[in-house]
Amino acid sequence: MPAAKTPNERDSKLASWLGEAHSKEAELEADLTAHIAMTQKPPYKKRLQRHLKETRDHKRRVASRIKKLGGGQGLIGATRSAVGEATGKTVAAVKGQVGVARAVATEQAETHLRNAEEELREEHVEIALYTRIEAFAAQVGDRETAQLARGIRRDEERMAKFLQAELGRLVKEIVRAEIPRDQRATSSRSQRSSSRSQSTTSRSSTSRSRSSASRSSSSRSSGSRGAGGSRSRSGSGATRSGSGGSTRSSRSRGSGRG
Ligand SMILES: [Fe+2]
Repeated sequence: MPAAKTPNERDSKLASWLGEAHSKEAELEADLTAHIAMTQKPPYKKRLQRHLKETRDHKRRVASRIKKLGGGQGLIGATRSAVGEATGKTVAAVKGQVGVARAVATEQAETHLRNAEEELREEHVEIALYTRIEAFAAQVGDRETAQLARGIRRDEERMAKFLQAELGRLVKEIVRAEIPRDQRATSSRSQRSSSRSQSTTSRSSTSRSRSSASRSSSSRSSGSRGAGGSRSRSGSGATRSGSGGSTRSSRSRGSGRG
């Protein structure tokens, strides 16, 4: 019976780096699942669900490539059974607890914002990871791995782009809900650029009605505080529960996760 072939230096390096990617995907699968449960804003939730599917697909394809490169079960099994799963689960459990505490302590818009910020950071970690794998694979002539890493990196970049825009939309909701009109920027340029970023990605009926409300109120005049102001406030109230100023200090505490 032939002994199992030991992978050469090139393949073991790639298999080991892909093992890191696999652990990361497993961790983010748990994170996304937790965030989806906490998210009430429909277009944002839908995008998270789509990325959860992509994440599972990435994990599966990375595992399959590790096997083809002759990487031991340790690299995939690590995330499934021992180290990775334990690490992934512990990290996800801690993150999940932080997230749940955050959801309790803060209002919905703020929770969405903090989660989106965390997701954006993780997407950039993945982009860096797959960029490194792709570059190495290209240098050593492993086209299949390079292609896999490139394809996944593009999915992560699309998600990062969505999250980048979502952060702007979520901040806008917070400003509208919490900051009186006379404390907001009056420059029509900042309002235009922010409604442009709203309209580029994932439009929902909510965001459509919000941006049209902001367009009509800004076109009326910057100083006017008429019906437009109270309409937009009640509009964003639909995604929030109450507006107690007392939660603000706990909110900033809740944001400080590792
Ligand atoms: Fe991702």
